Amino acid sequence: MGSSFLNADKSEIVDSSNVNIPTSPLERVVGQPEAVRLAMVAAKQRRNLLLVGPPGIGKSMIAQALSFYIQRPKEEIRVVHNPQQPERPLFEVKTAEEIIAEGEENFSAEGFLSDPKQIPPSVAERLGYRCPKCGQYSSYTEAICPHCSSQKAQGPGQGPFGDVFNVIGAAFGVQNNQERVTSTRRVGDRSEIVVYERAGEMVRLLDERTLERRRKMEKKNPSKAIVLLERNPFVLATGASETELLGDVRHDPYGSHPQLGTLPYERVIAGSIHEAHEGVLFIDEITHLGQLQRFILTAMQEKTFPITGRNPQSAGASVRVDRVPCDFILVAACNIQDLQSILSPLRSRILGNGYEVLMETSMPDTPANRYKYLQFIAQEIAVDGKIPPMSVEGMNIVIEEGKGRAKIVDKKDNALTLRLREMGGLVRVSGDIAFIEGSRIIEASHVREALKIYLPVEEKIKRSYGNLQSAVSSESTLSQKPEEYYYTFTNNPEDPAYR
Ligand SMILES: Nc1ncnc2c1ncn2[C@@H]1O[C@H](COP(=O)(O)OP(=O)(O)OP(=O)(O)O)[C@@H](O)[C@H]1O
Ligand SMILES: [Mg+2]
Repeated sequence: MGSSFLNADKSEIVDSSNVNIPTSPLERVVGQPEAVRLAMVAAKQRRNLLLVGPPGIGKSMIAQALSFYIQRPKEEIRVVHNPQQPERPLFEVKTAEEIIAEGEENFSAEGFLSDPKQIPPSVAERLGYRCPKCGQYSSYTEAICPHCSSQKAQGPGQGPFGDVFNVIGAAFGVQNNQERVTSTRRVGDRSEIVVYERAGEMVRLLDERTLERRRKMEKKNPSKAIVLLERNPFVLATGASETELLGDVRHDPYGSHPQLGTLPYERVIAGSIHEAHEGVLFIDEITHLGQLQRFILTAMQEKTFPITGRNPQSAGASVRVDRVPCDFILVAACNIQDLQSILSPLRSRILGNGYEVLMETSMPDTPANRYKYLQFIAQEIAVDGKIPPMSVEGMNIVIEEGKGRAKIVDKKDNALTLRLREMGGLVRVSGDIAFIEGSRIIEASHVREALKIYLPVEEKIKRSYGNLQSAVSSESTLSQKPEEYYYTFTNNPEDPAYR
């Protein structure tokens, strides 16, 4: 035991803070070269992936890491009000370029701001900025001129051509009043219409092109983005709820009452399958989805899936948006026992365009793999952020513990366990002990101490009751069969089971 280590660049490892942690997310996955290789292929080629193996060996970690290697989403999905049939909103896909162009269009429909002194005096008077009596300027909010104390504001549509301006203005959907004045100005050899609007202390000028854009925008049906362009390409589907997975239309107690209700399009909510559009949909324990697996199958076949109200009692049930895009990479995980419970057409769908991986549960005890363990310990400490680095001696004990577990749990000699979630737990418990003691490093003694505490509860039971079976029969009247005894350790090198 007690070996010393070097990094790849030959720098000596003094404690876990010297261990190089890869920056690339998939390289942080320890001991699963096949899964990592195929995850990379799946990311680059947009294939599906089924990860099979016991808990805590990195299935979620790989799924998440994979999402760092795919292209960023390029599309935003919106539902659009359908005035002909409000209960059948339409959808619209917008690219990043289109969204930018739209923003510019909105901006250009805002007109230009100008000082009231820069606009024709008669217009400034009608907007209430200029006093017709003394010609001085003041805020339109002051009805009495602060300079000569006479009444400032005039009624709408005044002046020699007021009536004409009103007609022209109405053609562009604007009314002449105190807040807004329609006038004309000469551009080259023709005259064009300009609308002047109050904008605080400034005046907004809307020329013909701006007015045209405004009118176009007002004509556009209102829409709501349900899948944003800026989104996380990794979507975890818990499968707990159908609506979360497939989307929903919220209930509205007022139905679609024109005044009280909310329009159907506003109540549409995307499901995980839609949020994962262009990204990764990760379904942990896929068999827990049960019958919902069929919907995943359909979504994968069609690459679109309708969003509809899923509660038949709800007003949302009559609303439906057809063919909403959901083109995702499926990464599914399950343990070996559940493999037969995956819907077979779904499994063949995954295989037809992707890979299945049986995850490793241990790796041979070689110097290179011991170094991988150090990397793992360093990662756990870095991610945790609350515990100090671990000494080389401490890390050696963790490695020995990993070796013991491989032997007992996986029946592998000269191997290191890859059930790393639990090993991570050991690192954290050791770290907490060091931290509470005020130690700036996790020493071997802290790890040994942790090994006494860090026993699965079954092991504690075994120690106080002899074995789990007798504990179950003496303590409980449960009719269920106890789960198969899973843990059998190990912290005592004298224990014959250890070596
Ligand atoms: N192969 C690995 N390399 C590095 N760290 C790992 C690995 N496997 C597990 N871990 C550590 O354990 C944690 C839990 O692993 P993860 O959630 O990926 O397990 P899982 O296989 O998805 O388990 P479950 O089936 O219970 O969901 C990870 O966040 C990581 O800290
Ligand atoms: Mg997981």
